[in-house]
Amino acid sequence: MADISIIVNGVSFRNPVLTAAGPNVGSEEMIHKAIGGGAGGIVTKTVSVYPAKDKKPTIKKGNFEGLFNCETWSEKPLLYFTPAYRYVRTNRIPLIVSIGYTPEDVSRLGTILEKEVQPEIIEFSTHYTGRSLKPLLKVAASLKRAVSCPIWMKVSPGIPDLEELALSASSIVDGFVAINSLGPTLDIDIENPHPFLGSSYGEGWLSGPPILPLALCTVYRLAKVQAKPVIGAGGISSGEDAIKFFMAGASLVQICTAALRKGPEIYGKVAGEIAEWLDSHNYASLKEIRGLYIRNAEERAKLLGP
Ligand SMILES: Cc1cc2nc3c(=O)[nH]c(=O)nc-3n(C[C@H](O)[C@H](O)[C@H](O)COP(=O)(O)O)c2cc1C
Repeated sequence: MADISIIVNGVSFRNPVLTAAGPNVGSEEMIHKAIGGGAGGIVTKTVSVYPAKDKKPTIKKGNFEGLFNCETWSEKPLLYFTPAYRYVRTNRIPLIVSIGYTPEDVSRLGTILEKEVQPEIIEFSTHYTGRSLKPLLKVAASLKRAVSCPIWMKVSPGIPDLEELALSASSIVDGFVAINSLGPTLDIDIENPHPFLGSSYGEGWLSGPPILPLALCTVYRLAKVQAKPVIGAGGISSGEDAIKFFMAGASLVQICTAALRKGPEIYGKVAGEIAEWLDSHNYASLKEIRGLYIRNAEERAKLLGP
């Protein structure tokens, strides 16, 4: 059987399929279920200094197994999650706590987390930080100064200078997660054309299979220009989807929407399918396929010109 365990930032993962921040890990119970479902690591729902106050409903099913959502961050405080964080650690599953959003917020939350739960890694969401370079780098630097564990920057779609961000931020952060959900987007029920989601005009963020090609390209662009690990998220629901992300340069993948639509067993199922695919193609480990597409594309560009 191919080896799908992997070490990233010095942390050992039993398999490369992690949870992504969302309602799939939105409560203590859901975190327990994700571990039972075979996740290789637990990335938790984003917490901030103040609990979110989202107008309901926050989720609507979309076409092609996608979802629209207008969820911001957790409505529960950091303290609520502390027992669940500790539970992950006692199960020897890597714990990656997601936090946001301002330089002050992440510095304060990071300091508390390192003292109380010592997560293996801290991921910070940039969803409400904007898309310009300066504020993004400021948040990254603030968190880096506050903690000693590795930190991952979660990238939202639509950053205009993605390569520039990757190059500048790679001297601060220990990894990139790409991508957050895409938006704003809209769906209309033509039999009842009124806003459904709780957001002001019913607009939401799109996730799941419809955003996979955008996520894949973002991972490819991040992995191509810098050497820090890239973690892929966006529409992954099968081993073959995940393999595409590894070939584009990802070291790990994350799943949110497929877990919400199909249940928490999806993490272990995708991990099993990755191993099966590697076996059936005579690869002994994930290492052998990581960045394969980048190398092939560069080879072709050398022959034909870019
Ligand atoms: C309902 C919902 C809530 C989410 N909440 C968060 C969040 O709190 N923090 C975050 O960084 N990403 C959040 N995301 C984004 C996911 O973590 C993920 O990056 C994105 O949905 C793409 O992956 P997927 O297609 O597997 O869902 C959320 C996604 C959904 C669908």
